[in-house]
Amino acid sequence: MPGRGQRHELGGVPVIVVENVQDYRDCVPYYVNKEDVCLELGCAQGCTTAVLAEYAKEVVGVDKSAFNFKVAEARYKHIQFHEIAAEDISALLRLGKRFTKIFLDISGSQPVGPLAALIEKYERAFPDCRLFVVKAYRLKKLVGLATVFPEEVLGTTRNPSTQFMVKGAAAAAAAAAAAANGGGGGGSGGGVANGCANGSAHGSLAVGRGGRTGGVGVGGRRGGLGAVLRRHVGAAAVALAAFGAGVVMGRASRARR
Ligand SMILES: C[S@@+](CC[C@H](N)C(=O)[O-])C[C@H]1O[C@@H](n2cnc3c(N)ncnc32)[C@H](O)[C@@H]1O
Repeated sequence: MPGRGQRHELGGVPVIVVENVQDYRDCVPYYVNKEDVCLELGCAQGCTTAVLAEYAKEVVGVDKSAFNFKVAEARYKHIQFHEIAAEDISALLRLGKRFTKIFLDISGSQPVGPLAALIEKYERAFPDCRLFVVKAYRLKKLVGLATVFPEEVLGTTRNPSTQFMVKGAAAAAAAAAAAANGGGGGGSGGGVANGCANGSAHGSLAVGRGGRTGGVGVGGRRGGLGAVLRRHVGAAAVALAAFGAGVVMGRASRARR
């Protein structure tokens, strides 16, 4: 690495970021399995907690609203709910659970700063946690707009979170070449300057990003993330796939093992 800039510890628990409740719930079957002990922060009246209960070994829902807590508890008697604020780490620790996946939905319009600080606190408090799923459109926007320098330029990285940019460059170029040759490859983005390719347990995703001029191809094997992305034709979803989901899918599929 050139330069003498300060270097930080950049590794950590992967974060899936979504912007609305439908995407938030869609995440459950993708990322949660019967070995997981899940925590939902901001569970409201327990609708997503109930979905989590179907897929996880155990789930706990917490909300700071006494009213919501009571409704959730009355509605889903088989699930444990608590009236706790997401910021109250001590109360969360007193639950005595070793959470492996944490879902966070304490209002989708949360500013990025406090949200990032909160996620870091959970990371320290719950060392068994292997994945966060966070509903926050501002964070999603930032992730979609972000790219990492100098990794993209140098084709090297010391950050496991951005390795997809390095390995994926070759894979995305191959997918684009296959598409140009009439092959049925996953990605068909034109003029691929960089990109990522990822296989998840639910289907393969190949995304090629055509530098500044765009050109994005997404191919799924049998539904899975490909199908979800096809439902979301907006540029934000595509940007998330290229930069955000590209990272988190790769790491999440590792987390599932
Ligand atoms: C959008 S609703 C959650 C919907 C729910 N996750 C679902 O999927 O059905 C947001 C919830 O977050 C709760 N909330 C907001 N700030 C909170 C905080 N700091 N700690 C805990 N809950 C919070 C609100 O009381 C509200 O019930």
